[in-house]
Amino acid sequence: MKIELTEEQSMIQQMARDFAVRDVEPKARELDKEGRWPAELVARMGELGLMGLAIPDEHGGAGADNVSYALAMEEVSRACASTGVIMSVNNSLVCDPLYKFGNDDQKKRFLQPLASGQKLGCFGLTEPASGSDASNMETVAEDKGDHFIVNGAKNWITNGPHADVIILFASHDRAAGAKGTTAFVIEKGTPGFTQNARDHKLGIHAAHSCTVFFENVRVPKENVLGGKGMGFKIAMSTLDGGRIGIASQALGIARAALEKATEYAKVRKAFGEPIANKQAIQFMLADMATELDAARLLTLRAAAMKDKAVKDPSIRHSKESAMAKLFASEAATRITHKAIQIHGGYGYSTEYDVERHYRDARITEIYEGTSEIQRVVIAANTLKG
Ligand code: CAA
Repeated sequence: MKIELTEEQSMIQQMARDFAVRDVEPKARELDKEGRWPAELVARMGELGLMGLAIPDEHGGAGADNVSYALAMEEVSRACASTGVIMSVNNSLVCDPLYKFGNDDQKKRFLQPLASGQKLGCFGLTEPASGSDASNMETVAEDKGDHFIVNGAKNWITNGPHADVIILFASHDRAAGAKGTTAFVIEKGTPGFTQNARDHKLGIHAAHSCTVFFENVRVPKENVLGGKGMGFKIAMSTLDGGRIGIASQALGIARAALEKATEYAKVRKAFGEPIANKQAIQFMLADMATELDAARLLTLRAAAMKDKAVKDPSIRHSKESAMAKLFASEAATRITHKAIQIHGGYGYSTEYDVERHYRDARITEIYEGTSEIQRVVIAANTLKG
């Protein structure tokens, strides 16, 4: 078994690192404090190919693989978790299903501008009354022959206030549950589709999310993604990829916290010596470094499996993606928690970055499926054998 990046993967990692260190990191604290949407960084990510990294170039993407995507996500998220998730949603939750399930016309109309970063997308699955129980949705799409009429609301929609396009999941037959779900591509400006003001959250302040509303929205049949009734499978298969993106975001947050805790431990003195000389601190750093590496190995394994699945759609990586997200997100919470502990009182201050990393880590255990849902997916696949 080889654990070695290819030349191209290393190049993309380096490109993302250069961008993150030069352009993103210096702004991260201000973006968080002000809750400012990083429009200039989103535009720059488009120019660098980071908004459709694993989409072939003939569809506007960078033509890289999913391992490169995971590596780039870690770099951007290390600098700013908000910028990371904006990138992740556009790549994993919007471009990926359009590439996998879209027809030629949809690829030309929607995927091309989204993957090249000219437009921004969001993903509408969660509703006020159904998050984990995703197939139990109240948003309905009435089939009128050549079009559907959509009514309902979706919430916690990351990128929602700024997105040009939403991949929307709605029920055309509520009694049929998962099988009665259809996916649609709906553009901003479609009459009856409105976006609420942004949400206020514990962390990822610069990655705006909101509730979106659909009131008698007329959606032409051409905007159905993957066929009527395919919606739930599209959502699940999309999340198998999205969870790799969030695992990578968690890696980036955790790495930033570990790096800062390590530096701090070397310069902060207590009892006449740097606290890094104390075994209590060393053991914390050892656990943090070990968990980070374990999380990265799980994440890269899932990404490598997704690359295999691109060539062979019979390959499913649901379990591997869920394991990566579960472990990386919970490790990020533990690692950022310890980073604050190592910083002592300063870690609790907004003058230091580790409190931001701690707040940002927390959401990775919740969105794109809570830790409990990841365990459900892992257990179901383990029992299946
Ligand atoms: N790929 C393809 N098909 C899949 C699939 C997958 N990974 N997983 C399930 N399916 C299929 C099943 O095979 C089944 O089809 P058949 O009946 O034909 O066999 C169908 O989908 C229904 O499957 P289940 O019976 O397993 O469905 P369920 O209702 O029990 O739900 C669940 C399973 C795992 C709990 C699912 O509802 C789930 O993942 N919930 C969490 C939702 C979630 O992650 N939401 C995140 C929102 S997005 C977000 O957070 C974005 C953001 O802001 C950043």
